[in-house]
Amino acid sequence: MNSSTKQPIGLFDSGIGGTSIWKEIHELLPNESTIYLADSKNAPYGQKTEDEILQVSIKNTEFLLERNCKLIVVACNTATTNAIKHLRAHYNVPFIGIEPAIKPASLNTKTNTIGILATKGTLNSNLFANTSNIINTKVKIVEQIGEGLVELIEGGKLDSSEMTQLLKKHLHLLTKHTIDYLVLGCTHYPYLIPQIKAIIDSNINIIDSGQAVAKQTKKILEKNNLLHSQNSKTENIFYSNTNTKVLKAVLNNSNVIVEKLNF
Ligand code: DGL
Repeated sequence: MNSSTKQPIGLFDSGIGGTSIWKEIHELLPNESTIYLADSKNAPYGQKTEDEILQVSIKNTEFLLERNCKLIVVACNTATTNAIKHLRAHYNVPFIGIEPAIKPASLNTKTNTIGILATKGTLNSNLFANTSNIINTKVKIVEQIGEGLVELIEGGKLDSSEMTQLLKKHLHLLTKHTIDYLVLGCTHYPYLIPQIKAIIDSNINIIDSGQAVAKQTKKILEKNNLLHSQNSKTENIFYSNTNTKVLKAVLNNSNVIVEKLNF
């Protein structure tokens, strides 16, 4: 690979969810330029078939590679669990994926019961099944599909009564078990943490994989001699193929460029 450290890191998601990962990466690696693709037009990925998820993931990857990205972060659990194996086999850049943090939750649970809230596409994937199968068999994993949550977030209804009602319904199905860990298995869900905290018992620990993904990104950049450690001018560009309003609202940061594109 003849990549330069100055090339940007590429990230994609079905919409704004992966910005929760971008924030962790930007905090840990402030000298890196980034290009983020919010494929909101095709959201939610979680309701698509494995092949449909693969096709959109290929399209997003090629979009980022055309813009010279040196490494790609699949900032979406659904795309990672359904497509990353194929992407790694077909493209000559390192890929970082995100998977639900059921391993740390199952190592730390005292009640031997953990809950996971994720999309149907993630919970039904082979990769998720394989990870669940290697977890200590004493630990019960209670799964709940967060149906409708991504649609409300993408529709700008993060703080709405509709969201509160829907969250209460999903969370009740998890908390009626004796869970002491709630794993957020979708990159959109960290934006719901304040509302989740207001609904569930404070003894339940909420975990997601954002920081782990940022650390892994740094490690892989170092390993491939791609880390841009110098303090120089960086550019952070965000593209959305629907409107940019919701994206701008979650970014809330004047140092980034947000553009709408036909894609
Ligand atoms: N943010 C995504 C994830 O982490 C995808 C959600 C969706 O589009 O269904 O799974």
